[in-house]
Amino acid sequence: MKQIIRNIMHQILKGKITHPILKKTIFKYGFYQKSLGANIKKIKIFEIDGFGVLARSMINEKRTYLKEDRLYILWQTVKQTADIDGDVAEIGVFRGGSSKFIVEALKRNGVKNKRIYLFDTFKGMPDNLVREDKRGKGGFEDTSFETVKKYLSSYSNIIIYKGMFEDNYRFIADKKFSMVHIDVDIYNSAKNCLNFFNSHLNIGGIIVLDDYGFITCPGIRKALNEFLLKYKKSYIFFDIETGQGLLIKK
Ligand SMILES: C[S@@+](CC[C@H](N)C(=O)[O-])C[C@H]1O[C@@H](n2cnc3c(N)ncnc32)[C@H](O)[C@@H]1O
Repeated sequence: MKQIIRNIMHQILKGKITHPILKKTIFKYGFYQKSLGANIKKIKIFEIDGFGVLARSMINEKRTYLKEDRLYILWQTVKQTADIDGDVAEIGVFRGGSSKFIVEALKRNGVKNKRIYLFDTFKGMPDNLVREDKRGKGGFEDTSFETVKKYLSSYSNIIIYKGMFEDNYRFIADKKFSMVHIDVDIYNSAKNCLNFFNSHLNIGGIIVLDDYGFITCPGIRKALNEFLLKYKKSYIFFDIETGQGLLIKK
């Protein structure tokens, strides 16, 4: 059967079969990708050394909503910034799942000299800021500073700040960063984070902005697009299929 589909696909691609209903049917059932072997030929990221074991255990712990695709970008970012001077920061920690992934990725890639600064209200999305999506106020209340502190207590290189990032960034004003993960869901928070780290990211450092490609978080796209209008020349920017936006400082 596969071979027949494959043959039909080749005929369609060569323009030898033009029958609209046949074409539509083949595409509709996703035979296009499968028959071309798109999934078969792709490297399976779970099989990549080190990543799969860590990603699986983080997904199983259910303390992050990030799945393997976005975790893999964080894994790559950790590796690519390992030799860049500076520390690591995450804004939007929630229950600590993505933070643990980052700190473990650093450890498993032999990166020992970086501190990880974490910021969250630890009581949900800030009430005083507008959510641009349809979720209304709140969200992510199901966490606490104490439980996250306990969850991450075995890592001596982690420093956690409770409260609005805007009230706490003064504590890292004298630091420089090689990697920053911003996962805050809303426009104002993303805008303030981008503005702060713009002047605190070392050359070669990377900012991963979660949700840039998600229609559920329109404020994130707006914040980064506005930021790029001003600072495009200072960054190499990637809009990646995972829904993350990547900024590499030039
Ligand atoms: C999507 S969750 C983070 C998820 C986490 N990165 C993970 O993968 O498990 C978003 C978090 O951003 C936090 N947040 C949003 N704006 C913030 C701000 N201005 N200051 C501090 N925390 C903020 C919220 O409290 C919420 O916990």
